Amino acid sequence: MTGPLHNPHFFTDPYSTYDRLRGTAPVQKIPTGSRGHHAYLVTGHAEARQAFTDPRLSKDTARFFAGRPSKRDIHPAVSGNMLASDPPHHTRQRGVAAPMFTTGRVQAMRPYISRVVDRLLDDWTRTDEVDVVRDLAVPLPVTVICELLGVPESDRDTVARWSHDLFDAGDPDVIDAASHALGDYMTHLVAAAHGTPGDGMLHALLRRSGADPLAREEVTSLAVLLLVAGHETTTHFIGNSVLALLQHPSSFARLRQDPELIAGCLDELLRFDSPVGIATFRHSTEALRLGGVDIPAGFPVLIAPGAANRDPAAFAEPRRLDLDRNAAGHLAFGHGIHRCLGAPLARAEADIVLRAIVTRFPGLRLAVPEEALAWRPTRLTRGLASLPVTIG
Ligand code: HEM
Repeated sequence: MTGPLHNPHFFTDPYSTYDRLRGTAPVQKIPTGSRGHHAYLVTGHAEARQAFTDPRLSKDTARFFAGRPSKRDIHPAVSGNMLASDPPHHTRQRGVAAPMFTTGRVQAMRPYISRVVDRLLDDWTRTDEVDVVRDLAVPLPVTVICELLGVPESDRDTVARWSHDLFDAGDPDVIDAASHALGDYMTHLVAAAHGTPGDGMLHALLRRSGADPLAREEVTSLAVLLLVAGHETTTHFIGNSVLALLQHPSSFARLRQDPELIAGCLDELLRFDSPVGIATFRHSTEALRLGGVDIPAGFPVLIAPGAANRDPAAFAEPRRLDLDRNAAGHLAFGHGIHRCLGAPLARAEADIVLRAIVTRFPGLRLAVPEEALAWRPTRLTRGLASLPVTIG
């Protein structure tokens, strides 16, 4: 048996499936694959907001799998990260990492991000064939986060590949292997930063996390999470946003005339085609009622920001891109205690990218018909495999 998320058109157009499911019931039990597993899928906006803040929905993945037969072998730096944990462990890790991503800190990163964007876009002018995904949306976020973490340039391609596999491979053996490669790599990087002077993010995290023996492991876990969480998601944010603007030439023209408007439109772009279709794993620790549905204890619960952000009860005419809309209530970054820590950084990267594109490439056009665009075959994130354009 396969579920509604497994229909062949889901990757191209998840929204018809989300609409149909939400229309039937904004919270419902669905089969999640061929092995008889089920989960509760949350597609309504109000229900998703509620689910994101319900402490009976645990993020402690290890707790869910404890006692179940599992041959998985995930590196502890990955399995124990804060996105896979509940308070008080989560509270402590988040407290250590949060000051790294304040608006002020991110503001200070803007000149570096701009330099990377300019360098990548300079290369666009030297070729006829540009792929926005390959030539901008993929390299930018990984370059920025590697720079912040102090990953040497020579290692970045390898680290990016592990991060990609960990997030996106689908094959459990590949994911487990990538978790070890990345976990071991970061363990060494943190050990090297420990005891040496420096003003990078790892040094700051080590200073903040204190002298207890857990500190180094926690920083390793944080470093892996920052790399993985901020990589693919931001890639998709950039790719999906550029596509949305190419599909709506009058919106593109407006931003070209006044790039100052871009920062204020990022929420609508995040709402319109959310990079995270389905948020990370949760499970019910006790029976609860959500959206009029009884969820028993011990079940996986999947919250779908991609569906919630297209809920007509929350956003009028949700299929329409409307740059004048107040879309601040979108759930693209999640909600509650696990709300995206890197949101200010992702916004800064997208703002800088879109400003540069509308200014430098005002004649940007899709190079292929829309129907020919290939989407990545992933259910949790939503993004393009490639976005071929002509630069006019
Ligand atoms: C547009 C790009 C991004 C999107 C759409 C996004 C989305 C999300 C979402 C939906 C969550 C919550 C997941 C859940 O509750 O299940 C989350 C958490 C998180 N994100 Fe992002 N993210 C983005 C970029 C980034 C970046 C650039 C970083 C860091 C460099 C980052 C770091 C994190 C971290 C550390 C968490 C876990 C927070 C916690 O558990 O308290 N994200 N993100």
